[in-house]
Amino acid sequence: MEIIKTIEIVKQRITNLKSKGFKIGFVPTMGALHQGHISLVQRCKTENNITVCSIFINPTQFNNKEDLANYPKTLDADLKLLEHNFCDIVFVPDEKEMYPEIDSRVFDFEGLDTVMEGKYREGHFNGVAQIVSKLFEIVQPNKAYFGKKDFQQYIIIKKLSEKYLPHLKIEIIPCKIIRESDGLAMSSRNVRLSQEQRYYSALISETLFKAQDNIGNKSVKDLKELVINTINENIHLKTEYFDIVDSNTLKSITSWEDANEKRACIAVNVGDVRLIDNVKM
Ligand code: PAJ
Repeated sequence: MEIIKTIEIVKQRITNLKSKGFKIGFVPTMGALHQGHISLVQRCKTENNITVCSIFINPTQFNNKEDLANYPKTLDADLKLLEHNFCDIVFVPDEKEMYPEIDSRVFDFEGLDTVMEGKYREGHFNGVAQIVSKLFEIVQPNKAYFGKKDFQQYIIIKKLSEKYLPHLKIEIIPCKIIRESDGLAMSSRNVRLSQEQRYYSALISETLFKAQDNIGNKSVKDLKELVINTINENIHLKTEYFDIVDSNTLKSITSWEDANEKRACIAVNVGDVRLIDNVKM
């Protein structure tokens, strides 16, 4: 596995591989890797000749300085895990390499970025778009892999690729959510939960799965209320938002007939740890 820190060298290396006809798959991450990330690497390996992974904690997508400071950093373990899973190239730039100057680009995602995560984490998706567009221009992969764990991010990256980077012709591949045995969606933030908080966090996915089973039995409004109340009844959990949206437009639905493909998305504060999850409805 090659570990590369500079844009110049990673570009050279990938241009050389592409000239030999190799298909390049790309998995961008912020490190603190777990089986959720590794599942993307494994899928990438089956569909490409070369798997490139990036590890970069992108400051511009954190609207909260504490969240950035608290973000887990486990580079040595990450590199071992990637090597063990036969990743070919890891790109690990530092902040100066990615942002030699302030990035003032503002992206317009036509409302996809102002709901749910975008509403509660102002500027978050603009920061994600800044870094992912830079990484896409550098790596120029044939395919890029994103987890549906961050469903809104996946939809916005698809838009980013189609609207702002059509020349790169990158195929954006959504990958299934990997969960712990009690259902909690794997997340780099889970390690920050106390034992008690970790135990009760399973209620989030449990409630989402129950909501999935109840589609048709209840109105959209009643089901939304039921989910929020069930979660908030637990003193460790506080729902920030819960919404059922059209999977393509991310617009809130009010009746089950409003959309063919629907997604129920949630953010919950567990102490000072913010967890997100979603299920298909
Ligand atoms: P990060 O949170 O490290 O996630 C990297 C990728 O792993 C994302 O596509 C995310 O959806 C996926 N992922 C995380 N947990 C998962 C799980 N339990 N199951 C399946 N996939 C999972 O998302 C980011 O980093 C950043 O915003 C990034 C795109 C790298 C830009 O900085």
